[in-house]
Amino acid sequence: MLVLDTRSEQAFVEFDRVQKSYDGETLVVKDLNLAIGKGEFLTMLGPSGSGKTTCLMMLAGFETATHGEIRLDGKEINNIPPHKRGIGMVFQNYALFPHMTVAENLAFPLEVRNIGKSERETKIKRALDMVQMGDFGGRRPAQLSGGQQQRIALARALVFEPELVLMDEPLGALDKQLRETLQFEITRLAHDLGITVVYVTHDQTEALTMSDRVAVFDDGRIQQLAAPDELYERPENSFVAQFIGENNTLEGTVTKLSGDRCIVKLDQTGEHIDALPVNVKKEGDRTLVSIRPERVEFDPQLGPDAHTLDAEVLEFIYMGDVFRTRLRVAGRDDFIVKTRNRADQKRLSPGDRIKIGWLPQDCRALDT
Ligand SMILES: Nc1ncnc2c1ncn2[C@@H]1O[C@H](COP(=O)(O)OP(=O)(O)O)[C@@H](O)[C@H]1O
Ligand SMILES: [Mg+2]
Repeated sequence: MLVLDTRSEQAFVEFDRVQKSYDGETLVVKDLNLAIGKGEFLTMLGPSGSGKTTCLMMLAGFETATHGEIRLDGKEINNIPPHKRGIGMVFQNYALFPHMTVAENLAFPLEVRNIGKSERETKIKRALDMVQMGDFGGRRPAQLSGGQQQRIALARALVFEPELVLMDEPLGALDKQLRETLQFEITRLAHDLGITVVYVTHDQTEALTMSDRVAVFDDGRIQQLAAPDELYERPENSFVAQFIGENNTLEGTVTKLSGDRCIVKLDQTGEHIDALPVNVKKEGDRTLVSIRPERVEFDPQLGPDAHTLDAEVLEFIYMGDVFRTRLRVAGRDDFIVKTRNRADQKRLSPGDRIKIGWLPQDCRALDT
């Protein structure tokens, strides 16, 4: 697998300054630059309407780019029709042909490519075995469960051995357990076969668990492109910090900034906190600071000059492996702290007054 940091000669899929407008006025994709390596599993993650499907459709050839170039294996494909791009596709609603059997559904992309009967049969059998549906060739889609239909859709996308497969919310219609099983199967198949996957979802857990890299979309732009752990631990702006995982946010003004540390005065109470300057440039800048619930410490034993905040416990929720405590902090009553259920972990009660704090590097001063 090849993971690319920047646009490069080696990119397998490349969006180069791509824009898209449906109505000639508003851009729903704004200046997209994205290079995907061969064998990479890249996920486009973002809220509804952020432009993910549009990007996938342009790559597949069902929509044209208004501006810019799309390249596959170094060749521009803007004017190549979909069936000549050699790309496999899987959608949310399966899109199997209802009047055909499973085997006939799989034969279709092979017939289109003029592959002879005996070779077709070999490939169909292999594809069905791959998704553990070897015995279902004679059934019609209506005789299969949702999960089985989605496995067939996956087999149909893989049967002609494409080097690139696009998937648009393929598991969105399935229940949680089946979704998790198929998430695992899709990533395993993709890696075993060495295919490049561009996957679209609005589900952050799915994106984090399946992908080599995730492109977080909002408003037609990539907000951050990074590996899952980096995205979670080092979000570059407030949108990403709040979209990925749970985060506490507090608003304030930077009063001191030196190197990799800044002090922020909180709006509500005038209390001071320590943070890592990420998106702030100078003293006086407005900022939204962002701190993960698992990085907050009670009665913190931090450095001598570290700031702490007064907090009041509003709710204590026992969740088995973790405790989830809701606090009133700096005028907000939705501040969440998560602690592991260790033998020595103190269980707080509503009404308790405590101090909280954190390491400055765990608290990111982002844009407002
Ligand atoms: N065929 C279309 N004609 C006009 N507008 C469209 C069309 N498809 C999508 N849009 C608009 O483009 C924007 C991005 O949509 P889409 O790419 O489907 O986002 P996502 O897949 O992230 O939900 C939305 O505002 C949507 O309404
Ligand atoms: Mg979509």
